[in-house]
Amino acid sequence: MKKMLSGIKPTGRVTLGNYIGAIKPFVSYQDEYDMYIFIANLHSMTVYIEPKELRKNTKDLIALYIAAGLDPNKVTLFLQSDILEHAQLGWYLGCMVGMGDLARMTQYKDKLAKNESIGAGIFNYPSLMSADILMYDPDFVPVGEDQKQHVELARDVAEKFNRRYSDTFTIPQPLTAKVGGRIMDLQDPTKKMSKSDEAGKGCIYILDDIAVSKKKIMSAVTDSDGIIAFDRTNKPGISNLLEIYSILTDRTIQDIVNQYLGVGYGVFKKDLAEILGQELTTIQERYQEIIKGSYLDDVLLQGATVARNIARKKLAKVERKIGITIKK
Ligand code: AMP
Ligand code: TRP
Repeated sequence: MKKMLSGIKPTGRVTLGNYIGAIKPFVSYQDEYDMYIFIANLHSMTVYIEPKELRKNTKDLIALYIAAGLDPNKVTLFLQSDILEHAQLGWYLGCMVGMGDLARMTQYKDKLAKNESIGAGIFNYPSLMSADILMYDPDFVPVGEDQKQHVELARDVAEKFNRRYSDTFTIPQPLTAKVGGRIMDLQDPTKKMSKSDEAGKGCIYILDDIAVSKKKIMSAVTDSDGIIAFDRTNKPGISNLLEIYSILTDRTIQDIVNQYLGVGYGVFKKDLAEILGQELTTIQERYQEIIKGSYLDDVLLQGATVARNIARKKLAKVERKIGITIKK
């Protein structure tokens, strides 16, 4: 069985973009791959979040993964901070990554350009991310477009390490979705739907009031020609809604376009709002069950036990190879 690994940061409330671009695809992969999914809470420290909020985001994120259908008995689901080996391997790999390579990462450059004061964590981010990945030897790393560059850096580090110290790490491949990889803001379909857009009408939150979310679909910005067709450049609004519809129903965009030939946007949006409403209802009901009691603690303990076992062995191997320990 091929291995797959990915992580999501608990930096905010989970959005429809996260659900469609990350959580739902993970659920569909779980039968085909040996999967490792973790909450990237060490990475979330690169932005300040109130401790109380961080705790809630983290708990909600795990609960939502499971509510969305991820089976903790099939998938190793864990908290990054539970596995101390990530930070340690991150240090070793960080010593092998060039400053120049880190400085050309788009995420870092974007943050720098905003002129806010930023911590060193955002610069070193890809070293830690390389450790997260290489620790478990995954064949594939499903990520959004914006994270592809970091996975490519992890590949380069793995190759460099393997060349210098002999074969140690599997070279991972980033996996980006063709449909649903970039769900756009409902009010401004030229910009990505993002959890940093807290107040906006353009972002749907999975745990929000369902009537509010349906309204956001109904008032999504489209265009004035009234034709339901897929054209990301000229009709970004309706194309975005078509993508959402396609992922939620597991139908092709073409099939949906054919169904709505000659029908107005209003009818299409109403149907989509209904479909979304049903999906959110199911998730929220399951979420309410999961969030009670100590179930999540048990899941994380089980996940950490599996992950730690792999991480310990891998780190020991790395330390033997680099000569940092006196044991051979
Ligand atoms: P973030 O919310 O940026 O931490 O991203 C967590 C995961 O959700 C990553 O795999 C992202 O690529 C994915 N994701 C975030 N926003 C969107 C979006 N608007 N469309 C599709 N995927 C997204
Ligand atoms: N940087 C990723 C994001 O912002 C989260 C992440 C951390 C990750 N470590 C990872 C994703 C390892 C895949 C593999 O979305």
